[in-house]
Amino acid sequence: MKLIDRYGRKINYLRLSVTDRCNMRCRYCMPAHGVEKVTHDDVLSYEELYRISQAAVTTGIEKIRVTGGEPLVRKGIVPFLERLSRIDGLKQLVLTTNGLMLDEMAYDLKQAGVKHLNVSLDSLNANTFAEVTRGANLVKVLAGLAAAERVGLPVKLNMVVMRGVNDHEIERFAELTRDKPLAVRFIEYMPALKEPGWQKLSLSGHEVLERLGERYRLDAVDRHELAGPACEYRIPGAKGTIGVITPITGHFCKSCNRIRVTSTGKARSCLFSEKGVDLKPILDSEDQLALQGALRTVVTLKPDMHNVSVDQCDHTAFAMSNIGG
Ligand code: GTP
Ligand code: 5AD
Ligand code: SF4
Repeated sequence: MKLIDRYGRKINYLRLSVTDRCNMRCRYCMPAHGVEKVTHDDVLSYEELYRISQAAVTTGIEKIRVTGGEPLVRKGIVPFLERLSRIDGLKQLVLTTNGLMLDEMAYDLKQAGVKHLNVSLDSLNANTFAEVTRGANLVKVLAGLAAAERVGLPVKLNMVVMRGVNDHEIERFAELTRDKPLAVRFIEYMPALKEPGWQKLSLSGHEVLERLGERYRLDAVDRHELAGPACEYRIPGAKGTIGVITPITGHFCKSCNRIRVTSTGKARSCLFSEKGVDLKPILDSEDQLALQGALRTVVTLKPDMHNVSVDQCDHTAFAMSNIGG
């Protein structure tokens, strides 16, 4: 079965958030205070998350990305992933993590059937890293990356570029791709929180490529059918790739292939839109066909594009940790 939305886009990718909790507090993701915490009773059980995933695959989803908050902080995540990976028809099970617990967990994740990891890493400088994450330890994340490499889990590195904070590290991140098969992705800062003055931090993917172009030749890399939003390039001879993700200046909505479900069961048609369906009552009714129908409805609700730009953001502010990016 295929899921096609009103604009002819094939939807084959589900981002499933298993928790809003996180052991970091990145500045662009959570406000310093007053983040709305989901209560324990509202969080879906693994059984409910599994039933959503099953319904999603039956209706046409081929790739599931498990997100958070930080998915690895939720107890029992490994057996859950293992169960997901065995869903018949699911082509790819992947995970986005901040890497803090990877050192201990990389082997188990690989065994559980996770195919690759996206790891957030905004700086290679311990102080800057601690500043952006409000106190996290860079050394632990680097150990986590080494563990992923050891167990043979491919990694995409997400660097949210912030002018005056980490943009001087772009070249250093690009250099990482020479010797390691990493996919480094430079992400434009998104004003999810709508904090005043966010534009000062914003730096376009175009500028990132221009800066890199002054130093390297960049060859475009072909896109894969289940690929995410990054446009990717390679420095000739490099083992890894360099990508830019440009949600603000060049949105990729035309080729958007995804829906999202939060840890409380709100299915969302777009990162920047609250249009969706609350799956919780349907889960309570234990009607698997109704769940499939609800996911199809979410797809029909997908807007053609979001309207967030450097000059305009009309969306209701949200913490990315509640949605999973
Ligand atoms: P891949 O399939 O591995 O390419 O994953 P991905 O890039 O979609 O996922 P990841 O969790 O690594 O997210 C990377 C960045 O892209 C984050 O900043 C996300 O918030 C952003 N992103 C992912 N999907 C969307 C989307 O649909 N719209 C927007 N605006 N940004 C998105
Ligand atoms: N802008 C850009 N990227 C963000 N992420 C979280 N919040 C933002 C934001 N405001 C990224 C994280 C993680 C991914 C899921 O989303 O760095 O890698
Ligand atoms: Fe945690 Fe990820 Fe948000 Fe950082 S971006 S606070 S690592 S959920």
